[in-house]
Amino acid sequence: SPVSLNLNYIAPFVADHEWDQLRPAVSEAHRRLHTGNGAGADFLGWMDLPDKGDHEELERIEKTAAGICEHADVFIVIGIGGSSLGAKAVISGLSHSFHSFLQPKKKNGPDILFLGEHFGSDYTAELLEALAGKNVYVNVISKSGTTTEPAIAFRIVKTWMEKTYGKGEAKKRIIATTDREKGALKTMANAEGYETFVVPDDVGGRYSVLTPVGLLPIAVGGISIRDLLAGAREASYEYTEERLSHNQAYQYAAFRYLMYQKGKQIELLSTYEPKLTDFSGWWKQLYGESEGKDGKGLFPASVAFTSDLHSMGQYVQEGRRHLFETVLYIGKSRNKIQIPRSDGDEDGLDFLAGEHLDAINKKAYQGTMLAHTDGSVPNLILEMEQLNAFSMGALIYFFEKACALSGYLLGVNPFDQPGVESYKQNMYALLGKPGHAKRRIELEERLNE
Ligand code: PA5
Repeated sequence: SPVSLNLNYIAPFVADHEWDQLRPAVSEAHRRLHTGNGAGADFLGWMDLPDKGDHEELERIEKTAAGICEHADVFIVIGIGGSSLGAKAVISGLSHSFHSFLQPKKKNGPDILFLGEHFGSDYTAELLEALAGKNVYVNVISKSGTTTEPAIAFRIVKTWMEKTYGKGEAKKRIIATTDREKGALKTMANAEGYETFVVPDDVGGRYSVLTPVGLLPIAVGGISIRDLLAGAREASYEYTEERLSHNQAYQYAAFRYLMYQKGKQIELLSTYEPKLTDFSGWWKQLYGESEGKDGKGLFPASVAFTSDLHSMGQYVQEGRRHLFETVLYIGKSRNKIQIPRSDGDEDGLDFLAGEHLDAINKKAYQGTMLAHTDGSVPNLILEMEQLNAFSMGALIYFFEKACALSGYLLGVNPFDQPGVESYKQNMYALLGKPGHAKRRIELEERLNE
């Protein structure tokens, strides 16, 4: 696999017997996962997504994406949580960071914008303003088809599309990704005749990046979804291995579980590549929503280095010792940037002249890792030679498999998210949604106390 786990900087924090005692629990969790006997077993469809491969669907995704790339200036992805974070992670990880500034000839598709992830008025208004005069296509994504944030965003964008292009043309520019048969979005898609893609029943939102949920926007981003799936497929074979000693995804899960048992409360995902910031967002949802329940779970947080060494670095080095770090380190960038020589060497940096930024980044990573380890922050290191569609597919699968196993080690259902409902019910009641009248009175009384 392109992902390799380096345990050298965490092993000193764990005794051999602690590791050994975990083996039976890992085997048991593996067995549950692979026989479909554990909690949430109705949602194990993600496990063989890369291998099962629906070729017709893949071709339709590629064809639809090619059509969008040919005609669109802007592609709006409407979705929240598992319906947007995966695509966002892969697109910002692998596409040009300044795509919207490139000359049209240099672009390999439309600019991709995300909406429906909040109720931000200014963001929404400014996005609509930016659409003026552009050729716009939309992918609205919601498994349930009823989530309020994307539903409201879609209502706003649909109205804009119909006003701008007329109803008939707007329909041709809207693609819906939702449940096979249920939900308001499916009903709307049927009534309007939108092109639709299906979110499989047995795949939960945060495990859905390798379904059309993630694949269509990723393909529009000019990224090879076949390579992404191939990387995930290779990882899926590798992480089928039951033995802890032979399965690095399980080793990652086991170490974080030992950290948790020893009283660590926070896992910090540290990246040294700004293109991975959105990947951290995807990872946080995966682990936070899968494990934070029943009063348990590590709190997943992230830092983007070296930027955050100048904001959070102090805390990591010397603050409360309730955290450990999982470092995501990429060996080689796609571009090579060399430090130029400067005539007077006024800044005293000539000793670096001719060096590549990658080499400097590596030293920063190594120095930080040693400093943090000295500061009693165990470091789990995940190294990847290069960031590309293949390695990213493998990384996604690595974390998914580890997360599922980790949830079972912790004794939770890693595939549900009952806690997400609480804010929704309150919000519906406060907004006066029919059927919530009693709760509305109770909540308003509390707010007016
Ligand atoms: O992981 C999950 O299940 C959630 O984050 C959902 O993806 C999120 O709430 C969006 O749900 P939906 O796709 O039904 O609109």
